[in-house]
Amino acid sequence: MKVLIILGTRPEIIKMTPVIRECRRQKLDFFILHTNQHYSKNLDKIFFEELELPQPKYNLRVGSGSHAEETGKMLIGIEKVLTKEGPDVVLVEGDTNTVLAGALAAVKLHIKVGHVEAGLRSYFRKMPEEINRILTDHCSDFLFAPTKKAREILLSEGISEKKIFVTGNTIVDTVYQNLKLARKKSKILDRLNLKKENYFLLTAHRPENVDKKERLKGILEGLDLIYKKFNLLIIYPIHPRAKKMINKFKLKVPEGIRLIEPVGYLDFLQLEANAKLVLTDSGGVQEETCILKVPCVTLRDNTERAETLEVNGNVLAGANSQKILKSSLKMLKQKRNWKNPFGDGRAGEKIIKILINKFFYEASHPKLQNR
Ligand code: UD1
Ligand code: UDP
Repeated sequence: MKVLIILGTRPEIIKMTPVIRECRRQKLDFFILHTNQHYSKNLDKIFFEELELPQPKYNLRVGSGSHAEETGKMLIGIEKVLTKEGPDVVLVEGDTNTVLAGALAAVKLHIKVGHVEAGLRSYFRKMPEEINRILTDHCSDFLFAPTKKAREILLSEGISEKKIFVTGNTIVDTVYQNLKLARKKSKILDRLNLKKENYFLLTAHRPENVDKKERLKGILEGLDLIYKKFNLLIIYPIHPRAKKMINKFKLKVPEGIRLIEPVGYLDFLQLEANAKLVLTDSGGVQEETCILKVPCVTLRDNTERAETLEVNGNVLAGANSQKILKSSLKMLKQKRNWKNPFGDGRAGEKIIKILINKFFYEASHPKLQNR
């Protein structure tokens, strides 16, 4: 079985790590294709170094562009590699343009596609990721759903149950594999002069927030209210997209927000684990805070991570300043005793085991191949 792992952005590198580690452990024939949708060192290389990942065999150097530019360039580059290498299965993770391009290029060449983190839906079709998720799920052969809820969603869309496997989310594996290391190695709290629970942590990068002046302004005002109420700093490792838009809209960043460059995984994990509360519009950060039992306020009107709301680890606040303050006060009163809904930290192992069973077992039992 020859496995191709396609990735391109920060969250994909982080969430594919357990799958890559398991491929190595099982001594599988595998290689990585990086589209380079993310290319800045602190969104890309830093994670390969810290998480000790093998270098990609192919790097398409696609970079930034419009949706069509990014996806189109990726499709052309990925098809060439698929034709040359002929992998048995392509694995993609999540919902970025890289994921859609990887799945689409492979399925058209009749190469099996495995979608890690299948079955998530925000039901907000203006979100580019929602389109990427739906299309990727519907052209995949193996749908690795993180939860039973994701499985139910896939079944309700008519996807055959034979293709769906509930494995947990690989982010649990990544958090568990790195938390101790983060505590030991990260110096970020000292560097920023922070102590446990004496600061808030913020991430915001979704186009629906940062590309819209009114929403971005509402979020910044909400954070100002929080700073004035608690007199605690808000640490914001700012995504380049958000930085660009704050400058473009000439918005003033309130004094309580401390902007820093995006940080590596160990530093971010350490910042998350010790924050009083996290405010975010990130998918991965909603999951990680839920796993770490740190209260989260999501700066969106919807989420595809509904499990985090159901266990009361997260609340939706949108981009309205008063609602952001109210939601933060509510979450700070929340007992941190919820259960992690995203699995036991062995998703990577389960995914690879499923593929090995399928490919090796069926190869020796040809009658099963079309089942
Ligand atoms: C992408 C994904 C999003 C994911 C996010 C993770 C899509 C549609 N979006 O959003 O789902 O949550 O990555 O962070 O696939 N830029 C840099 N350096 C980089 C990459 C980007 O400066 O390494 C800047 C460029 O100005 C670029 C902008 O960020 O135009 C947006 O980059 P892009 O990859 O298109 O989308 P993201 O917002 O990063
Ligand atoms: N993250 C990081 N450094 C940062 C900000 C985030 O390592 O400065 C990690 C975070 O731990 C999470 C992932 O990046 O695992 C989330 O990525 P992002 O928010 O960019 O994308 P999304 O999850 O929304 O697709």
